[in-house]
Amino acid sequence: MQTRILLVKFVLLASCLIHSRVCSPSCNFPAIFNFGDSNSDTGGLSAAFGQAPYPNGQTFFHSPSGRFSDGRLIVDFIAEELGLPYLNAFLDSIGSNFSHGADFATAGSTVRPPNSTISQGGASPISLDVQLVQFSDFLTRSQLFRSRGRVFEHLLPRKEYFSQALYTFDIGQNDLTAGLKLNMTADQIKAYIPDVLNQFSNTIRTVYKKGGRRFWIHNTGPLGCLPYVLDRWPVPDSQIDGHGCAIPRNEIARYFNAELKKRVIGLRKELVKAAITYVDIYTIKLTLITQAKKLGFKYPLVACCGHGGKYNFNKLIKCGAKVMVKGKETVLAKSCNDVSFRVSWDGVHFTETANRWIFQQINGGEFSDPRLPLQFACTK
Ligand SMILES: *[C@@H]1O[C@H](CO)[C@@H](O)[C@H](O)[C@H]1NC(C)=O
Ligand SMILES: *[C@@H]1O[C@H](CO)[C@@H](O)[C@H](O)[C@H]1NC(C)=O
Ligand SMILES: *[C@@H]1O[C@H](CO)[C@@H](O)[C@H](O)[C@H]1NC(C)=O
Repeated sequence: MQTRILLVKFVLLASCLIHSRVCSPSCNFPAIFNFGDSNSDTGGLSAAFGQAPYPNGQTFFHSPSGRFSDGRLIVDFIAEELGLPYLNAFLDSIGSNFSHGADFATAGSTVRPPNSTISQGGASPISLDVQLVQFSDFLTRSQLFRSRGRVFEHLLPRKEYFSQALYTFDIGQNDLTAGLKLNMTADQIKAYIPDVLNQFSNTIRTVYKKGGRRFWIHNTGPLGCLPYVLDRWPVPDSQIDGHGCAIPRNEIARYFNAELKKRVIGLRKELVKAAITYVDIYTIKLTLITQAKKLGFKYPLVACCGHGGKYNFNKLIKCGAKVMVKGKETVLAKSCNDVSFRVSWDGVHFTETANRWIFQQINGGEFSDPRLPLQFACTK
């Protein structure tokens, strides 16, 4: 513990020397409010539509924890780094404690309201606009209940936390795959990206109006390197790069990110009191996948927990799927034995080891714009 504190002090001192702007004490974020999809869902979809089954959660929580991973997600490592408890899902009515934030993300969420729902193979109905409604309601009602005192004071955030909190966003991936599901061409998908980003920007504006000041926005990862994308929407071999990723899918992700970055730059001018950090998750995840071996990881394009095929991914037999064999339930899509060396957990999401590695890259600020460590993401 002592060495960790020393290390943190050293890192702070070092960042103080590198970026003169951050010589001030760190931001001391008292809370995190997260919006997003499965990349940061800590139990939302599970609360509404049933738990993500074991072996999800096997490594760290040792039972299903509402996360699509064997363990912690990037947002969990962010919470740890800020000295805050793991975020409970806003939708989770069992045992939740929101005193230091809430998670509005659900797996399958899109920015735009979807036109088909989960039972039709569509997206989560908890799209970003709904998450925003839930946040607004949380903001108002949490204060109403806090004023009643007693246990509510120990379960809900203080009023001032809403302006001091870090507002984190990781969403957009499912808006891109929504087009793939409709067999759209890359040009057709690109054509609706402005609409996605308009709606995204409006969400940031609304949170700002309600008092949010510190924003932390992840761009979208390399879609074309994800086993489920490679399996479900295959491209000809001529469109597969040297690492096995689908070139046109990554191109869409990069286009989305370039446009997102422009919006962030615009929002900084408009929302003058906000500190908005844009985090290049794409480059970090691409590095992890393309340099997996060098970094000590294995089979970056193969799901650890899945069932068969080149990518060990089958959309009909997802991680944890069970079958009845002679009247007994048997798990058909099991975890691999070397999960701590794997990148892809279930073909869609990353393993805890991968999430930790990604977090470590994020934390230092090297992939952020502005280039500030997480602890200083309130600095303008
Ligand atoms: C849903 O349908 C409406 C009306 O056709 C359309 O304007 C909107 O863009 C669609 N949304 C998505 C996410 O495709
Ligand atoms: C909720 O979590 C906070 C921070 O971990 C803790 O101080 C508080 O006592 C918890 N509330 C309850 C009712 O246990
Ligand atoms: C997309 O194309 C596939 C294969 O040609 C077809 O089976 C599917 O019905 C199409 N989906 C839509 C939404 O058009």
